[in-house]
Amino acid sequence: MPDDDFLLLNPGPVPLSEDVRTAMDGQMVSHRSAAFEAIYERAQDGLDEIFTRSTLSGESTGDGTSLVLNGTATMGMEMAVSNLVGPDDEVVALVNGKFGRRFARIADRYATVTRVEVEWGQSFDVEAVEAAITDETALVTVVHNETSTGLLNPVSAVGELTAEYDTLFAVDGVTSVGGDVFRIDDWHVDVAITDGQKALAAPPGISAVFVTERAAEAAHERKEASDGAGIPFYSDMPWHLRKAEQHQTPFTSAVPLFRALAVAVDEIHEEGMSDRIERHRRQAEAFRDGFAALGLEAFPDADGPTELSNTLTAIALPEAIRGDDATAFFDAVAERDVSISGGQAHLGGDIFRVSNMGHLTPEQVARGVRTVGEALGDVGVDCDPEAGVAAVEDVLNG
Ligand SMILES: Cc1ncc(COP(=O)(O)O)c(C=O)c1O
Repeated sequence: MPDDDFLLLNPGPVPLSEDVRTAMDGQMVSHRSAAFEAIYERAQDGLDEIFTRSTLSGESTGDGTSLVLNGTATMGMEMAVSNLVGPDDEVVALVNGKFGRRFARIADRYATVTRVEVEWGQSFDVEAVEAAITDETALVTVVHNETSTGLLNPVSAVGELTAEYDTLFAVDGVTSVGGDVFRIDDWHVDVAITDGQKALAAPPGISAVFVTERAAEAAHERKEASDGAGIPFYSDMPWHLRKAEQHQTPFTSAVPLFRALAVAVDEIHEEGMSDRIERHRRQAEAFRDGFAALGLEAFPDADGPTELSNTLTAIALPEAIRGDDATAFFDAVAERDVSISGGQAHLGGDIFRVSNMGHLTPEQVARGVRTVGEALGDVGVDCDPEAGVAAVEDVLNG
């Protein structure tokens, strides 16, 4: 059991506040009771605000309905795809990391998919995306913040193309919504997905899907035309939308997780989205500068309209400790009661990743950088942990 000194810096699940944790403690209520509906409504209202007012100025960027799902974000991604397209449809899926690949793999099960694919960690060429979209394209999928590589993909530029070609647009905002700018109408987003356990700082096992009127209509039409064929029973979007009007889910709700989510979104409201975005941006910059002061280099290559993530940082491991040798480095971090992530799939042993989603303190950011510096020292990489800490403090106190 981790103690209070344990520092969780993985890009999900992220640490929970005391209030979010205790929210899960209460006696169960029926998911068909007024007491539960009040919880769902609170979560839904908070999510509506987060999905539509994730800007620095706080203005609303669109209208739609927030659905809360019993399941992680992959369920939301599948709900989006499976309710919007079928076997006769064409999907363009942008892939430059593990989660873009996941969106494409989900779409493979329901439609015909054209991938716009670049190496993980590389930026998309918007012209190549345009070349892939045609008048036949029914849906475009993209991951806003690619958690496996630390890149913020150009959703705005891709959204322009979806508007031009009149396709539906599903955006995975799993590690951006609640921590960074997200614009529904300006980016022409039809469905957006986020996860409880990421920037919302709620527990894992619950996720949210924001459905615009246009997407709701498309899902209704598809369901009617197909008589439900090919639409997963559990993730039937029109059914979820109908039940959400009553602040219920179609099936039994994960009551403790809904309670925790309701408190987590209240906490976001108290902080205010613009302050929260600015804090996330500062803390990501502090991580970047701190690791640079240790002599480390960012892993991803942000080019053109693509930017580095503001919610997590992916760093290339020094060549001398890549591959199997990376294990000793990760062990040295873990011995200091700090948890960070390595690279996923073929990036294992090449990179490490830390998150600043949720509510880290400045001291925790500094501790993350110091720990990485000390662990590097343990495995023979020459660096100055205190220089890393000084760089963090420069950003956070400057
Ligand atoms: C960008 C992104 N999309 C989707 C997912 C899938 O989330 P889950 O595994 O919780 O379903 C994750 C999880 O890390 C993610 O980071």
